[in-house]
Amino acid sequence: MDAAPPLPRDLRGRTMLVTGANAGIGYWCAEQLAARGARVVLGCRSPERAATAVTAIRTQVPDADLRVLPLDLGSLDSVAEAAADVGERLDAVVCNAGVKAADRSARTSDGFDLMVGTNFLGHFALVAQLEPHLAPDARVVTVGSIAHRFATLDPATLDAPWTGSSLRQYGRSKAALMAFTFEQSRRWSRSPRMSVSAHPGYAIDPLTPPRPGLAEVSGFVRALATPTRMLVQGKDGGALPIVHAATSGAVTNGDYWGPGGLLEFRGAPARVAASEEVRSTAIGAALWAAAESITRVRFPD
Ligand SMILES: NC(=O)c1ccc[n+]([C@@H]2O[C@H](COP(=O)([O-])OP(=O)(O)OC[C@H]3O[C@@H](n4cnc5c(N)ncnc54)[C@H](OP(=O)(O)O)[C@@H]3O)[C@@H](O)[C@H]2O)c1
Repeated sequence: MDAAPPLPRDLRGRTMLVTGANAGIGYWCAEQLAARGARVVLGCRSPERAATAVTAIRTQVPDADLRVLPLDLGSLDSVAEAAADVGERLDAVVCNAGVKAADRSARTSDGFDLMVGTNFLGHFALVAQLEPHLAPDARVVTVGSIAHRFATLDPATLDAPWTGSSLRQYGRSKAALMAFTFEQSRRWSRSPRMSVSAHPGYAIDPLTPPRPGLAEVSGFVRALATPTRMLVQGKDGGALPIVHAATSGAVTNGDYWGPGGLLEFRGAPARVAASEEVRSTAIGAALWAAAESITRVRFPD
């Protein structure tokens, strides 16, 4: 089979931070951005897993311009240290890192619910503290999920112990992240900056091309998964709407992108609909205030 043609190096001179870049969709965002010439800052909590990702990217893009930024989104101290260590202008921040946890008692090191704390509050605090480093036309892209529709979002009980299924709580964490994005897009309505959300559809490791040291999947499992390609996709495909949101000239402030295929599970990037709840001005403003109060991190005025 012929090798894929090289991507245009259209992102040279641009620096993009990807959180959770050592695995899964975040890894693929980093590889795809590096292949297009961007300098990529990999925000990762494990130096070993980050080093594995750097080596894997270099197997594909030997001259990739990469830097690892230690970042644990489950620790506000780590988030503050990472923001203080950035020290360079960022053209995009991709808020990708995320956890799904079945355990109701799982907490971040600050005592927040693990999913809301990592997926939303960690990114909220990170973006707030990165503001001074953002380029005048920077984009902040958050990774949302179809699951945002499975939950109701009440800013007043953002960090309350959760009941119901873990999928619902995961959906709540993603809905909060998306409502933050749309609130930020309103606050940036007179700025060249863009706040955008994108989701990866349904992306699984067995359909993902192998990379050394990353999510190793046996040939048997890959073969078993092959028929699912009709419906779902690899994590390389899941990265496409997110990279598109971070880079494409077709994107506008406040957009939401995802795969354009059946059920938004797979396919080429397309503009998709977010729930009325996450687009609500009242919910967005209340959520922002709740997040500032819970994290004690404020956006600069
Ligand atoms: N896969 C899907 O179908 C799907 C669908 C909708 C949305 N999403 C969203 O897409 C994003 C990526 O998902 P994925 O499937 O690629 O997941 P994944 O393979 O489990 O990768 C998650 C990444 O997030 C990082 N991470 C988790 N907690 C962190 C923390 N406290 N600090 C820093 N990094 C942390 C992980 O780092 P470690 O290796 O250190 O754990 C890893 O790099 C998530 O936000 C997820 O919610 C995925």
